[in-house]
Amino acid sequence: MTATHSGASASLTAAELSHDRDFARALDAADELAGFRARFALPLRRPDDIYFVGNSLGPMPLAARALVLEELEDWSKLGVAGHLGSRRPWYSYHEQLRAPLARLVGAREHEVVAMNSLTANIHLLLTTFYRPSGRRTKLLLEKGAFPSDTYAVMTHVGARGLDPEREVVEIAPRAGEWTLREEDIEARIAELGETLALVMLPGIQYRTGQALDIARLTRASHAVGARCGWDLAHAVGNLALSLHDADADFAVWCSYKYVNSGPGAVAGAFIHERHVRDTDLPRHAGWWGNDPKTRFRMEDRFVPTQHADAWSLSNPPILAVAPLIASLAEFDAAGIARLRAKSIRMTALLEFRLRGIDGLEIITPTPIAQRGAQLSLLIAHDAHARYEAFKAAGLACDYRESGRGVAGEGIVRLAPAPLFNTFDEVWRAAEIVRDTIRRRA
Ligand SMILES: Cc1ncc(COP(=O)(O)O)c(C=O)c1O
Repeated sequence: MTATHSGASASLTAAELSHDRDFARALDAADELAGFRARFALPLRRPDDIYFVGNSLGPMPLAARALVLEELEDWSKLGVAGHLGSRRPWYSYHEQLRAPLARLVGAREHEVVAMNSLTANIHLLLTTFYRPSGRRTKLLLEKGAFPSDTYAVMTHVGARGLDPEREVVEIAPRAGEWTLREEDIEARIAELGETLALVMLPGIQYRTGQALDIARLTRASHAVGARCGWDLAHAVGNLALSLHDADADFAVWCSYKYVNSGPGAVAGAFIHERHVRDTDLPRHAGWWGNDPKTRFRMEDRFVPTQHADAWSLSNPPILAVAPLIASLAEFDAAGIARLRAKSIRMTALLEFRLRGIDGLEIITPTPIAQRGAQLSLLIAHDAHARYEAFKAAGLACDYRESGRGVAGEGIVRLAPAPLFNTFDEVWRAAEIVRDTIRRRA
């Protein structure tokens, strides 16, 4: 069996897919991105272990260590003089991130900024983009959103003096279904019409792995005069995003999952250029959002720079930004389009290999446009014990409650990441899942 697909092709057809291990090995042999694996420190206890949790915490790019050490060394030698005199001057350190970050999310350079953490950025951008006025006060959110998003939205609306129970509208999948239908979201948006101020949705739903169509749902929001913001925690570094063209008003993400920038890494935000240009927008400001030309005049009046930086508050944490620089260099070298093409094929192989196992249902949608790297496996019985058995067999994955309160069931998430995982690992991961489930049946 030979693999006929090179790195440039997008998918594997049903006729091409095979359970033969040599098929997976041939895909690896033809993989033009295979060399990137050696550029990461993979946290494997045994050489055959498989790290399929890059959707939770990506592994360390080897180059990160040297960049962090460089900054420690410059700090030790230069002290405050390092702001302007270090090898990568701290004063403008964050500017190195603009171009690679813009390429990663399909934005213009002045539309992106690396700052804070994801949840903090949700609050900051809600301040700007949730502007209830008159009858237009509602905020549409998915039911079962990542808890931090729900907490942020509910408390934010409350802190603005409104009743979150009244103003926050949640949309859920239809009864008996796991994922949202985009036509249902559009219908709810249309129904809320002129009462709707903001729609906030996930690029990829963390539990089910469902990807939503950012352009389509943004368009539906704009059609009723609402704004639309996106939580891209599970989409950035995973999908080939085009945030500018999709016309999103704003987006936020963390950098520790597919972006591999370390635990609690500095997060990111996108603000569309039409808003970046509008210096009258309400925001919480700090000196780092002020026009850099006048920042050090230390004047009383805030003059926002016409850049997404205008939302940043403080001078960036250099030691935390260094790994992000290392990681984005890997994305630049690989190219998000090539990574996505490989990811589509890896996930297709994984899905093919996992189909038809009794007691296991893949709840992630099958169409390529509706998912990223991750597959979410609903395990009907003894789910947690089986998850522990997967890990004991060397498959690093993670576990989430199904959210339905059904005893014994649970969701195991597997995410082969194209930067550092192999097709052979996909083959072996499926073998572990199949064997473990059969053995315990
Ligand atoms: C979808 C989503 N939103 C929000 C968060 C919270 O992120 P943070 O702790 O970086 O604010 C996470 C973390 O995994 C997430 O997956």
